[in-house]
Formats: sequence, C-alpha cells, structure tokens
Amino acid sequence: MFQTIIDNNIQAAANWLKVGETVAIPTETVYGLAANALNDEAVIKIFEAKGRPRFNPLIVHTYSVEAIPLFAELDAVSKKIALNLMPGAITLLLPKKKDVPDLVTAGSQKVAIRIPNHPLTLALLQSLPFPVAAPSANPFGYVSPTTAEHVYDGLSGKIPYILNGGPCHIGVESTIVEVANNTIVIHRNGGIEPEKLAEITDLPIVYSNTKKIVTSGQLKSHYATNTPLLLGNIEALLPLYANKKIAVISFTTQYTTANNITHFILSPSGNLHEAAKHLFATMRTIDTQNFDVVLAEYFPNEGLGLAINDRLKRAQAQYKTTV
Ligand code: TXA
Ligand code: MG
Repeated sequence: MFQTIIDNNIQAAANWLKVGETVAIPTETVYGLAANALNDEAVIKIFEAKGRPRFNPLIVHTYSVEAIPLFAELDAVSKKIALNLMPGAITLLLPKKKDVPDLVTAGSQKVAIRIPNHPLTLALLQSLPFPVAAPSANPFGYVSPTTAEHVYDGLSGKIPYILNGGPCHIGVESTIVEVANNTIVIHRNGGIEPEKLAEITDLPIVYSNTKKIVTSGQLKSHYATNTPLLLGNIEALLPLYANKKIAVISFTTQYTTANNITHFILSPSGNLHEAAKHLFATMRTIDTQNFDVVLAEYFPNEGLGLAINDRLKRAQAQYKTTV
C-alpha cells in the first residue's frame, strides 16, 4: 500500500520510476500509468495495479523521433508519420528490437511506440535513461482517466505518485496505426483523425479486422460505465425507459425536458474535439449520480466522432442483453 501523492514535481516522479515503481503521467490524450519499459519487475507492477491481464501489450513512450530506432525498426512511411505527428495522439506499431522485453509486447514481435504531447511528461521522459511503458491509468475495463483526480479515484493506495498535469486536452486515447503493404492499417481510432494520416502519407486507410484480440482497446467490452449504457436513437429509446432515472449523452441536442431525464450535451456548438474532451469525464460523473440507465446517441462518423462512437460501443457491449 502507498500513500498516493498528487503533485507536479518532475524530479519526484523520476525518482519513483528510477527505483522501479509506477507513476501516473499526464498526456494530451488520457493519463497513463508508467514504469521503466526495460525493467520486467517494474512493468509487472503496472499489470498488478490495474488488474490488467498480462496478454495485453503496453505502449512504449519516448520523447523524440530520433530515439525510436533504439527500440523499433522505423520504415520510411512510419518515419514520415512520426515526423509529422509526433509528439501527438498517434501510436505506431513497429517491428521491435531486442531490448524491448516480451512482457511489454505480450510476446509479439511488434512494439507500439508513442511520443505524448504534454510538457511535464516530455520533460520527465527527457530526464530518464529509459523509455516508459504506459497503459491508460484506470482499473482494467473502466473508463480512462482525463484528470489526476480520476487516476486517484481508481488507483489510490496502489501507486506512489500521480504527476498532475491538469485535464487532458484531447480526452480520447491515441490512434494506433501500422504501415503494411502500402496501406495505413488503423488498429484503434483515437485522437488523430484518419483523414490526417491519408493526407500525410497519400496511402489508403484500412481497418484491422483480425478476429483475434490484438489490443485491449479491441476487446468488445471496455471503457464501461458502472451504469448500464445503451447506444442508439435517443427518441426511440426514451419511451422504453419511461419510469427510470435516465442520463442522456448527446452531441448538441436537448431531446426533452422531462424531469426524470438529465442531459449531458458534450458540445452545444457541435465541435467533435470539444465532445471528445468531455466524453470520459461525463461518463464518470454519470456513475456518481445514481442513474438507472445511460442513453447515448451516435456521433457523426467522421474525425474524432469515429473514436467517440468506438468508445461508446465498447461501453455498451456488456449491457446490451441485460438492460
Ligand atoms: O493515448 C494513449 O494511447 C494512452 C496514453 C496513456 O498514451 N495509452 C493507452 O494505453 O491507451 P492502453 O494500454 O490503455 O491502450 C493501448 C492499446 C491496448 O489496447 C494494447 O493492447 C495495444 O494498444 N497495444 C500495445 N502494444 C501493442 C502491440 N505490441 N501490439 C498490438 N497492440 C498493442
Ligand atoms: Mg486503456
């Protein structure tokens, strides 16, 4: 057990990481739970704190594109993506080099690499003699944290230090991509829009449709609220829950003024970036307010709307047959 500290001292965070402990770090997407990526014993502590199965690989975080070849083979197209978008909300899946432990990649010969765009975390990474492995800093299966307080709610006592960098600007996880056969394969929609990748590389975008689980973000049920969540046409769903206390997650629309229904409108002005930024915090708020059910609508299927719809679908998955 730790007395978990929340503060913004880079040196203190570095000291914990250097002695093989875990530290929660701010990024522009969501908070991560970091440990020395080259130290198995440190990495095991991440899985233990999160309750995450070991078959689930971790993203390696570093601070410069020049450092990537230390850990992975960087082909020309991936390098172009890296030079254009890193630091940023993008993760590249690349053939790994031998220094990256099998524990980090769950035995895969590929490693996921990302350079987070947050000043505190970039300074921290620069001060360390090793990269960090970091999944989102939430208990396995729950909604990802976008503030230091969210991390504390889920992991207090289990980790020594939370580096507080304020609320995350983007609010959904990075886009995970792999360059294969002259296409850009998207493994997870996230903070960088697919349109941007097409523009930079001039290559076709395809979605990974492997049946086996490659990433935990691909597990059907994930990012789940404790309150049952249903995704669909709000006007069609509302009458089915007439006697319930309902939370509605919508993009811009107030559907009704009935007093058993509370709206959480993610962007009154219709901005998908703003909606993404508020999504996870809203899901957490709803979980604290004793709703019977959450009804969410589909967002426009473009740009960050792709990532929002993906997270809402996964949040719905475990409730679909039970509500
Ligand atoms: O924005 C983000 O990506 C955040 C911040 C903290 O960087 N991280 C994050 O990590 O979302 P996590 O572990 O919650 O999700 C990363 C996903 C997982 O689904 C994992 O299975 C997948 O990336 N992944 C990591 N390494 C992989 C690998 N070698 N091969 C395939 N998938 C991998
Ligand atoms: Mg996660």
